[in-house]
Amino acid sequence: MTTLPASDIQLPLFIYAQREPLTEKSAWVALEEHHRDRARHFQLERLFAANDKRGETMTAEGAGVYLDYSKNLVTSETMALLMQLARQCGLQDRIDAMFRGDKINNTEGRSVLHTALRRPAGDSLMVDGEDIVAQVQDVLGRMEQFAHRVRSGEWLGHTGRPIRHVVNIGIGGSDLGPMMAHEALRFYSKRDITMHFLSDVDGAALQETVRALPAEQTLFIVCSKTFTTLETITNAHAARQWLVSQLGDERAVSRHFAGVTTNIEEATRFGIDPDNMFGFWDWVGGRYSMTSAIGLSTMIAIGPDNFRELLAGFHAMDEHFRTAPLERNLPAILGMLTVWYTNFFGAASQAVLPYSQYLKRLPAYLQQLTMESNGKHITVNGETAAYQTSPVYWGDNGINGQHSFYQMLHQGTQLVPCDFIGFCQPLEQVGDQHELLMANMFAQSEALAFGKKAAQVREEGTPEELVPHRVFDGNRPSNSMLVEKLTPHSLGALVALYEHSVFTQGVIWNIDSFDQWGVELGKQLAKRTARQLIDHSQPLHHDSSTNALIRRFRGGGEQ
Ligand code: F6P
Repeated sequence: MTTLPASDIQLPLFIYAQREPLTEKSAWVALEEHHRDRARHFQLERLFAANDKRGETMTAEGAGVYLDYSKNLVTSETMALLMQLARQCGLQDRIDAMFRGDKINNTEGRSVLHTALRRPAGDSLMVDGEDIVAQVQDVLGRMEQFAHRVRSGEWLGHTGRPIRHVVNIGIGGSDLGPMMAHEALRFYSKRDITMHFLSDVDGAALQETVRALPAEQTLFIVCSKTFTTLETITNAHAARQWLVSQLGDERAVSRHFAGVTTNIEEATRFGIDPDNMFGFWDWVGGRYSMTSAIGLSTMIAIGPDNFRELLAGFHAMDEHFRTAPLERNLPAILGMLTVWYTNFFGAASQAVLPYSQYLKRLPAYLQQLTMESNGKHITVNGETAAYQTSPVYWGDNGINGQHSFYQMLHQGTQLVPCDFIGFCQPLEQVGDQHELLMANMFAQSEALAFGKKAAQVREEGTPEELVPHRVFDGNRPSNSMLVEKLTPHSLGALVALYEHSVFTQGVIWNIDSFDQWGVELGKQLAKRTARQLIDHSQPLHHDSSTNALIRRFRGGGEQ
């Protein structure tokens, strides 16, 4: 049991400020020299030739994830310097502070405790005088009862029919996690309940979702940490209106709406029955919330036992991150490699390429996780960062990517480090299709790393004028992550791996990875503009471009 002193006192904003600027730390300076004098000339082909064990030794394993980072532009010296930098930035202390519940979300004065959501029952963590693991387990228990009743058909809609459709209404972290997990774990899901995800405020999204739904058998779960997000609340009201008009009775709402939020007051005002309300806490960031009650749709889909397995997978990676030495710590390695390419090679993006149809939404999920967390240029000290921070994370199911954007990965002008993710065993064995799938993953990382020389292209009888077009320079870095099988447990471990890689990057860049002030301005302006689009008599005081666009909109496409 971990006991913490009550910490109601607002911590000063600079509590985690690093005194010595990042670029003046001795490890940073050493990395700059190392890059200038050696690393920018590294050739993967030569690095592999110099050490025939490289592919076996530059690996690490934790929580069931095997990471091969040997196809990166690094040597053991590079890795030692990167880990030295991590130590000089106090990574281990920051990890401990996060797990302990210190208020490391400086700008909001909050703890960051998504890891507490995955702690096993019976564990305990006292924060501000309260055992938050007990609170988590209490909500989990209520979710389990609710999920069980919906899955078993015991929960009946207003007209006495069981639920066959669940619509998750939410956006950002209240949508991407549940949607990604639903796709990823579809194999484990109860097929007679269909999941739908409604996030966009575009009326078409709502209409297309409810078009074929039987209201009598539909459950809406309104997910919003704040319960003030305009898109979600607007959709929730529209869904409620639709339901009541279909069933002709206001009282139907309590059988067809559940709510997940930290803002119980607002959810009550909306009309969610307190019995169908599941809470969480301000120490869970939206993009870190898929293991909170935000996962209610996931639990209904895969069942409480599988959901517990998902939590156990997250927890296994949490424990690995918390306890493994940095040199063998998967999230630390992944995070420091991102720092290496972003800050020393000037890489502006990072591709995530799962070789699994089930993981096709993982890149979209990771975009919020990574870029909403680390897409910042003001440090914890309140100064402008003198270095780059979050790269653009992007990607798709690897096989589909091969037939669209891989051309650029292989022969484009930009360095794009890639993360390949694959599984040893398929969930669906169809002939040799899994072998074919994984052969592609292995072949792509090999081709990126080692390319194809002009001599070989010529040997194949290529006409001389085509030779340069058919040469692959290679030397393009990648990580390969191999997991035995896609299960709730391994999905949890993979997602936690990225969560903590993001944390590692944020510590090095000395930024608060847990706020998101950058999304506020657009929201404020949209509110004002919405009034002007609805009421055409409202005066326009924007810039000339925005004014002209609004006038054109008001005129229905004509000036
Ligand atoms: O606008 C960004 C954001 O605040 C995300 O951080 C969050 O995940 C999303 O909106 C949804 O917020 P909420 O769960 O409060 O509706």
